Amino acid sequence: MLRILFVGDVVGKVGRRLLHERLRRIQTELDADLTVVNVENAAGGFGLTGPVWDELRRLPVDAFTSGNHIWDKKETLELLDAEPKLLRPANYPAGNPGRGVVTVRAGKVPVAVINLQGLTFMTAMESPFLAADRILAALPAEVVVRFVDFHAEATSEKQALAWHLDGRVCAVVGTHTHVQTADERILPRGTAALTDAGMTGPYEGVIGFKPDSVLERFLLATPRALEPATRGGALCGALVEVDETSGRALAIRRLRYEEGERP
Ligand SMILES: [Fe+2]
Repeated sequence: MLRILFVGDVVGKVGRRLLHERLRRIQTELDADLTVVNVENAAGGFGLTGPVWDELRRLPVDAFTSGNHIWDKKETLELLDAEPKLLRPANYPAGNPGRGVVTVRAGKVPVAVINLQGLTFMTAMESPFLAADRILAALPAEVVVRFVDFHAEATSEKQALAWHLDGRVCAVVGTHTHVQTADERILPRGTAALTDAGMTGPYEGVIGFKPDSVLERFLLATPRALEPATRGGALCGALVEVDETSGRALAIRRLRYEEGERP
C-alpha cells in the first residue's frame, strides 16, 4: 500500500512557514510514501519567485502542482522549463513553458502526478476532461498509480472530472477555492475524490487575504491589490491510500492541522 500526502494551496509567508515547520512531522506521523504540494500562491499569494522556489525545492516534496497564478511572476516561466517536478496545469495551450505531468517514484513504484485546470469561471482552454484522456493514453502501462490535482472553481466540474476518471486514476483532489470540502469519498471503480483540499495558509481573512483588501473589491467594484492575511494559519490537504498493483484508492482522509497544534 502506498500513502500519498497532498498539501493544498500554500498561501504566502504563513503557508510557507507551516510547510517548513510541519511537513516533515506530518509525513512521519502519516507514514507518507509520496508528497505533492500545490504552490501556486506561495509568493505573497501570487505565483513563485526565485527565492521562494529555492526555499520550497529543498523540502521533501516529490512534485509541486500549481494553477492559474503560476504565471503571475515572469521569473516563474524559466523555472517551469528548468524544474521537472514543478508542474503547471497540463491543459494550457502548447507554446507555454513547463509541463503538467511528471512521473516520480515512491520507492520502486512509479507514480504519475497530473495537474489540470477547470474551465468554469476560469480562462478558456483545452477541456481538462479531454486533456486527461490524452495524458492517460500516453502514460506507459506500468505507471498504474496516477494522481490528479484539479485546480478549478466549480464544485460540479471538480466532481464531474472525478467521475470521468473513476477507475483510471487513484485520486482527483481539487484545489483553487482554498476552502476544504467535506465530501471525500471513493467512487465505485476506485478513484478517491475530494472537491477541494483547502489551503495551507492564513485563515483569518478571505481565502487567505486580508479582509479589508478583499472587501474594497466587492464594495467599490474596482481592482485593489490583495494582501495575504497573517493570522489563523492551518495546513490543509488529504491523505490517499493506494493499492499500488491496481492503482485503486483504498482510503482518503481530509487533513487539517491548525497552527500551534501538534504535529
Ligand atoms: Fe488558483
